[in-house]
Formats: sequence, C-alpha cells, structure tokens
Amino acid sequence: MPLVQNIGAYENISLNGDWHYIVDVQEEGYYDYRMNPTPWGFFRNAKPQLPEDLIEYDFDLSPTMHIPGDWNTQDERLFFYEGTVWFKRSFNFSPLTSYLSLLYFGAVNYDCHVWVNGQEAGHHVGGFTPFNLDVTDLLIEGENVVIVKVDNKRHAEAIPTLIFDWWNYGGIIRDVSLVKVPAVYLENYSLQIKNEKINDKEEKGIFFSAKLNKAEAGHAVTLSVPELKIEKTFTTDAQGEVKSEKIKVKSGKVAFWSPDNPKLYRVALQCGETTLHDSIGFRTIETRGKQILLNGQPIFLKGISIHEEKPFGGGRANSTDDARILLGWAKELGCNFVRLAHYPHSEYMVREAEKMGIMVWSEIPCYWTIDWTNPATFENAKVQLTDMICRDHNRANIIIWSIANETPHSPERDNFLSRLAQHARTLDDSRLISMAMEVTGASNYVNRLSDNMNEYVDVVSFNQYIGWYRDVNDAAKMHWEIPYDKPVIISEFGGGARYGLHGAKNQRWTEEFQENLYRENIAMLDKIDGLSGTSPWILKDFRSPRRVLPGIQDYYNRKGLVSDNGEKKKAFFVLKEWYEGK
Ligand code: GCU
Repeated sequence: MPLVQNIGAYENISLNGDWHYIVDVQEEGYYDYRMNPTPWGFFRNAKPQLPEDLIEYDFDLSPTMHIPGDWNTQDERLFFYEGTVWFKRSFNFSPLTSYLSLLYFGAVNYDCHVWVNGQEAGHHVGGFTPFNLDVTDLLIEGENVVIVKVDNKRHAEAIPTLIFDWWNYGGIIRDVSLVKVPAVYLENYSLQIKNEKINDKEEKGIFFSAKLNKAEAGHAVTLSVPELKIEKTFTTDAQGEVKSEKIKVKSGKVAFWSPDNPKLYRVALQCGETTLHDSIGFRTIETRGKQILLNGQPIFLKGISIHEEKPFGGGRANSTDDARILLGWAKELGCNFVRLAHYPHSEYMVREAEKMGIMVWSEIPCYWTIDWTNPATFENAKVQLTDMICRDHNRANIIIWSIANETPHSPERDNFLSRLAQHARTLDDSRLISMAMEVTGASNYVNRLSDNMNEYVDVVSFNQYIGWYRDVNDAAKMHWEIPYDKPVIISEFGGGARYGLHGAKNQRWTEEFQENLYRENIAMLDKIDGLSGTSPWILKDFRSPRRVLPGIQDYYNRKGLVSDNGEKKKAFFVLKEWYEGK
C-alpha cells in the first residue's frame, strides 16, 4: 500500500521495545527440507498442544533484543552475521470500528516478511525506506502477535548490490508502530513554495495539494496555518485529490526557511474527524548557471558526509538524540549542509537537521556496480526513490535528491540512471537532482570531469581522492576541467587517520597526514570555477567490513574527522577554519 505521509502525526501505539528473536541460518522457519516454503513455519508461533507434539522453536523462550536496533551490535554472535533472523512481539489490542489499523516500519534491512496472528500481512524489500501495511482484518480482541522474518543477505541484483563500504547492519533498524487512521484518510499532501504554470502564466507561491486513500469526491480538507492567517477548505475531486492550488498569502509575510533562520510554521490539516499537525518551512532552491540559489540568493554548501551510525561505538543511529549529537558536530564544523550517505537516513535525522537549519542531500543506494539491465533491479531502485521522496517531500531543508554514487560509465547505466532522474522530477520538480560522479585520474595534472549523466542533473557532483588514493602531495599542481554550465559540488574528498596517532605529515594514518591532506585539498578546491559546495568524506569513523588493517582500521573506515569515540582529529579544525571563512 502507498506510504502514508507524516504517519507519525496519526494516533499510534509504539511497538518499540524488546522483541524475541530466533537466528535461522538455513531458514528452517520458512522452507521445508526441499526448499519449498512450508505452511508450518515460525510465523505460526506454534506451541505444543499435546504431550507428543513436536515444535522445534519457541519465541518466548528465545532471547530478546531492543527494537529499533540492529542485531550486529546487540548479540556479539551476530557481529558479522548476514542471513535470516525472526522477530516476535505481542501486544494487546481491541479492534476499532470505522478505523483502519496500519502496521508501520521506519525501516527493516533488507528483505522482510510480516505476519500478524499467523496471517501474512506483507513483504518489503529495501533497507532504508519506510512502509506501512493494512492489518485491520488481521487483528483480534486481546493478545495479538506480530512476527517478522528479516534477511539481510546481499545479492548482485539488489539495491545496494553485493559490495559496499559500510556495515550491513541487519534487523528492524527503525521505529515500529500500530497506527490508527480513519477509513478515509489523507494519504499524501504537499505544501511548498513552487513555480507553477497557471493558465500558461508562471506563478511563484505557496501551493497545496492533497490525496486521499480513496478515489472519492466531495471530502472537505481544511488547511490552516494560523501564523500566516491561512484557513482554507478544499473539496476533493473524483480521484479523491485536491489538485495543486495556490494559497494567497500577503506578500512579504512569509519568513523563508534558511540556515540562519530555520523558520517552520505549524500547519493543521483536517479531514473528517481527524486533524493532522505538521511543521513546514517555505523556501526556494534553484540554480542559475554555476550558482545554487537559496531563496534567490547564491549560497555555498558548507557540508560534511555522514553515515547513519550511532555517535559512539557503532550500530545504526535511530533517534533524535543520535541525530542531535551527529548534527551538533557538523554545526561545530560550521556546516550548513550534510550529505546523508548513501541511503535515506531516518526521519529523526532529517527533521532535526530542518530544525537546526541544516540543508540536506538525500540519496538512494545505487552504489558502485548495480545490475543495470535487470528490470527488477530498476523497479527496486524506483520504489526506493519514490518512498524517499514521498516520506520527506515536505521537508524544507532537503534541497538535493541524489540517485547514485560512483557508478561505472556505460549506456546501460546511463539508461538506468537517466530514467531514475526523470522519475524524481515527475515526483518533485521543486528540488535539485544530482548524483555522486567521480574523477579518478588526471593526465598532466589536468582532472577532467566527463559524464553523460551531466545533462540529467541540476548540480554536477563528484568524488575525488587526491592525496589519498592518488597523487599524494600533488594537489597544488592540479587543474580542473568541468565542461558543464552547472554548479559543482565535491561530494567526497578526504583521507584516513587513526585518532591519537601522530607523526610526520607524509606518514599515512597519522592525524598530521590527514590534516595536511585537508589543507592541500582545500587550497586546490578553492580554485575550482563554479564550486558551490563540498561534503568531505566523512564526519565520523564508521564500521566497514572492507577495512581490515589491524591496529589502525579494525573494521572501521578511518576517514572520519571525529573518531568512533567522538574525539576530534586535527583535520576537523582545518575544515572548520575554511568554513568560517566561507
Ligand atoms: C568512496 C565511496 C564511499 C567510501 C569512500 C572511501 O568514494 O563513495 O562510500 O567509503 O570512497 O573509500 O572511504
């Protein structure tokens, strides 16, 4: 079923907490010994009824772990584990009349099946986007049981594909709740400043549109923004929609959202008995030649890249507190922008950044060499893109949708990604589209960006690792050729250092080496014509199975400016100084 907009605003019961789990390496709980799905699987939560009954699992005798949370950091036996784990949670409930009950998951990595009281409720693929399932008809009076089978095995045809430079944290990694919605509810709505063609005339203004879960005409939807004296009732058409309508607001009345003034307006949306509340900011984001304009003014994106990992000690971040600490470090750096890599982060992160005045680059994990010619892979990427945009399209601070990272050039890749870019534009024409391209080599110190996808993006962004993967200490000699009349973002640059390791600036892994690399890169980047932003790699050391150097990496990518214990490395202050001058 379609993702419900701002689902957290509906009345709901949180199902976070301790869930029983069973590690099922050979999926004994799902397949019989002939590898056919079995009707007697663990989803039945069966208990022996007679003394001779043979039931070889019992959730209630099995250990528990905290949900939301990954299994890798909660059970040391599962640190490296990739496979199936079953989860069970019971809760008491009294079915509601004239209301629907939706089971909502913030994210489950990667492939998950859900059962309620032994009945299949749904299946979802994709580790970083939310989904909701209608379980109204599955719920009973009294004790109800939810069982979730989660499999985080990697596959070539998946999104992301077989290899990626982050930890494949498995499990129910974000909030779970049971949401009460009326039989007819607001499935989606949009309230933003946009340019819209009205009677062939380009009009800029606040536009509202909405869609019910039912194609029913005649439903009243009342929008109110008290601070702007907006109170307007719309009526749905035969599709159950309020087509985009311009809202009259006295000009100059709207305080635009910006890093210096992250103004959010309280918004209420009434539909039938239910009133939803939201906090929405208004701003415009566009490009003009090589400039990025926020609210019509050129802006430089002082950014940093971030992985969704807890600030201290690893594990998936999934709370407001986690977001505040990570974004607090970004603020200390002087950032007004973060690249949330390489997948949609939790809504907590995006909304906290919005309150803190931090602009966001949000991305789907089309990372490295995807199975470009596989239609199912494309559908998967398209669904993840759709859900990312659907969840966050009312967030003023999201300025860039990114469709990919470091993908190899080929006609098949261009075909795949160009269709994704077009799809993003049909869903949301009010934001910038980009992707992280790459420049992996220079000839005679000339670095040339050349990528067919330049024509499908609004901002040309690329990763470059001068000083680390190549051309150490040659940054000063480098020239850049970026033959596109579009703003340029350096979406990644950087190098590794083990916090506390000191030595000569040409000694790898020392803080001095990383510090020097930042100094040299910054001086080089400052000379790039059209440079509109950077998001160095990366805010904090993060777990990766690809980083195995003992005593230095120990399964951490050490390119953080902050260590995995929150200690700031010398390079942190080099970037901070640069941003203070920007
Ligand atoms: C790549 C990639 C990152 C990776 C980084 C690195 O550019 O996009 O995901 O972690 O380089 O090598 O550290």
